[in-house]
Amino acid sequence: MRFSTLSLLATVASAAFSFAAPVTPTENALEARCLCQDIHSIITDVTTTITPLVTELTYITSDNCTVEVLTPIIGEIKGVLSTAISQVQGLTGKTVVTLLTTVDGVLLTVTDVAQLVVGLLNLIFGALAVVLKVVTSVNAAAVIALLCEVVELVAELLQAILNVVGGLLAILLPLVGEVVLSVIATLGLISKFSFLSVTWSTVSSTVFSTAFTSTYTSLSTAIATATATA
Ligand SMILES: *[C@@H]1O[C@H](CO)[C@@H](O)[C@H](O)[C@H]1NC(C)=O
Repeated sequence: MRFSTLSLLATVASAAFSFAAPVTPTENALEARCLCQDIHSIITDVTTTITPLVTELTYITSDNCTVEVLTPIIGEIKGVLSTAISQVQGLTGKTVVTLLTTVDGVLLTVTDVAQLVVGLLNLIFGALAVVLKVVTSVNAAAVIALLCEVVELVAELLQAILNVVGGLLAILLPLVGEVVLSVIATLGLISKFSFLSVTWSTVSSTVFSTAFTSTYTSLSTAIATATATA
């Protein structure tokens, strides 16, 4: 199965747009001081904060897809994700109504939460897929190790959200896109996502083989090395 860079960018752009579009200055101010009492404010806050960082990743080219260029961007993304993980963990013990009521007083359905989560996943994994597509074999091992750090935090965040929002997994799973699962499989991080109960045997772990016909062997060696040392 082949993903064109264009469709990945379209996924990222539409994910970013769907979150960017309805934000008014008032909502922005609310999000900026995330009340963090509900799942909606946490997920929209992380999505809004992460969007410009993730967008930078989509402009990476094979010339600047290096550890030096990526480290500050990845570092910021990791910071945002770590904050969100502790915020979600802080929701433990709150009532379902508290968790699911937005700062505007709207009671979300579990499907609404699933859509917020999927938007965030598409945004992050779409950009990581772009990076994986442009990385050269000489930089692959180090870059992949960096990407793994992000994806491991995404796994933690996702697990934390699933822990507090009962019934979310069954609704979420069918919505999770092929790009998300393929990047996880390609990075060798399936075990970090075992809580998803995905049938990984049907997921392509070689999304990038078409684009990387010449460097694929060294890339998969790099992945094996990066995973072994992770
Ligand atoms: C990488 O290079 C591209 C093309 O020159 C540029 O548009 C992009 O901003 C660069 N990214 C970073 C993070 O330096």
